[in-house]
Amino acid sequence: HLDTERLPIRLALRSFLGLIFLFSLSTSALYFIYSAPGIVNEYVFMVQARGIQIRENMRNIGAQVLEQVVRGAYSLNGTDYSYDFNMSESDGPPTTYLPEGFTYLPSQVCPERLPSMKGRLEVNMTEVSLEEVERSLLEKDPTVTPGGYWKPKDCLPRWKVAILVPFRNRHEHLPILLRHLVPVLQKQRLQFAFYLIEQGGTEPFNRAMLFNVGYKEAMKDLDWDCLIFHDVDHLVENDRNYYGCTDMPRHFAVKLDKYYYMLPYYEFFGGVSGLTVKQFKQVNGFPNAFWGWGGEDDDLWNRLQYANHNVSRPRGELGRYKSIPHHHRGEAQFLGRYRLLRHSRERQRVDGLNNLNYSPLVSRRPLYTNITVTLSRKLAPIANY
Ligand SMILES: *[C@@H]1O[C@H](CO)[C@@H](O)[C@H](O)[C@H]1NC(C)=O
Ligand SMILES: *[C@@H]1O[C@H](CO)[C@@H](O)[C@H](O)[C@H]1NC(C)=O
Ligand SMILES: *[C@@H]1O[C@H](CO)[C@@H](O)[C@H](O)[C@H]1NC(C)=O
Ligand SMILES: *[C@@H]1O[C@H](CO)[C@@H](O)[C@H](O)[C@H]1NC(C)=O
Ligand SMILES: *[C@@H]1O[C@H](CO)[C@@H](O)[C@H](O)[C@H]1NC(C)=O
Repeated sequence: HLDTERLPIRLALRSFLGLIFLFSLSTSALYFIYSAPGIVNEYVFMVQARGIQIRENMRNIGAQVLEQVVRGAYSLNGTDYSYDFNMSESDGPPTTYLPEGFTYLPSQVCPERLPSMKGRLEVNMTEVSLEEVERSLLEKDPTVTPGGYWKPKDCLPRWKVAILVPFRNRHEHLPILLRHLVPVLQKQRLQFAFYLIEQGGTEPFNRAMLFNVGYKEAMKDLDWDCLIFHDVDHLVENDRNYYGCTDMPRHFAVKLDKYYYMLPYYEFFGGVSGLTVKQFKQVNGFPNAFWGWGGEDDDLWNRLQYANHNVSRPRGELGRYKSIPHHHRGEAQFLGRYRLLRHSRERQRVDGLNNLNYSPLVSRRPLYTNITVTLSRKLAPIANY
């Protein structure tokens, strides 16, 4: 059914998306005439069936279009999907930060709104070597220990945060992320360490399973209480986007430059998100069944809904991120995700932290723990959903 209030916006959007869609497809297989929304779903199906590749240069927006349209067809409660057009930047109450020179005691829990958190950050995407970043960060603060462990000395950290970063073939992105994020977390007075979970082998990228592995390995080190699931190419643009957890699961990367600083869809939980260890255990972690990009974050969203959690997000400017442009071909997308997503609820109990086996190779670098793991379907057996 159609929501008439939003109809003009939706039609405009669909035409716009349709155009982008056309641009993004291989020119060879293009005998499709864009007309009515109903056709789009069929078309998407055709695209899936034939495995037409979305061109690399239009990949992000093209994928988003696909996501929007296909979600409409598969939305959980069968209603039509509504788009989020609220681009207001000035929303949210004015926040009060502690004044410059405010002193807190080593015996007190660190404040959440420190004077050192100034707001807008410069984002430097210049490529740099890992060694150079290791050297300069350790020079600035020699108390970072191998594995990238750090904790504040002038107060008690409010959260012990394990930053989990799934990884494959993005060696030039990692030092950029570390150079940017480590000082932010130090300013936020969080205790933290970085875990890089690198996928070996030739199977498609499985971001979700890497997070499950990272979680299990991280918990062997320390009793972390907050987990941040962080893509390697996402750079936060505001240091007041506090990387601690809350009693609600948190989605940090609300506005990405590559999506024109809009939340792509309401249930979007990708890029950078965070859960307490308790919340993560409660939902049996991420699903392991998503091979190739896409869908795993939606499945986690569904799991959180079934557990009656509401997701919180930073307001306005705080949730802005820049993404590092990719220089080479990315990973294959997972076209079976919509089918799997319809069974999130049934799969939740049998696929996640509880059916996962793996043998990692673990080593420490000055700024992170390197967990290398070869993944295959055999490592997370489930009945066929
Ligand atoms: C169904 O989805 C719509 C749009 O996402 C939402 O507004 C509505 O609350 C949902 N209804 C139920 C019963 O979940
Ligand atoms: C956008 O969001 C702000 C704050 O959340 C709200 O006050 C405003 O009414 C919203 N605008 C629209 C068009 O939904
Ligand atoms: C960006 O990083 C590079 C390498 O670390 C450095 O040489 C350059 O000065 C930085 N640029 C800015 C604007 O900070
Ligand atoms: C989630 O939000 C709904 C509606 O705002 C509220 O009734 C419910 O109590 C919230 N759940 C939790 C766990 O906070
Ligand atoms: C992690 O360790 C593996 C195996 O020792 C190595 O091949 C890989 O380059 C390392 N990755 C990173 C990002 O340090």
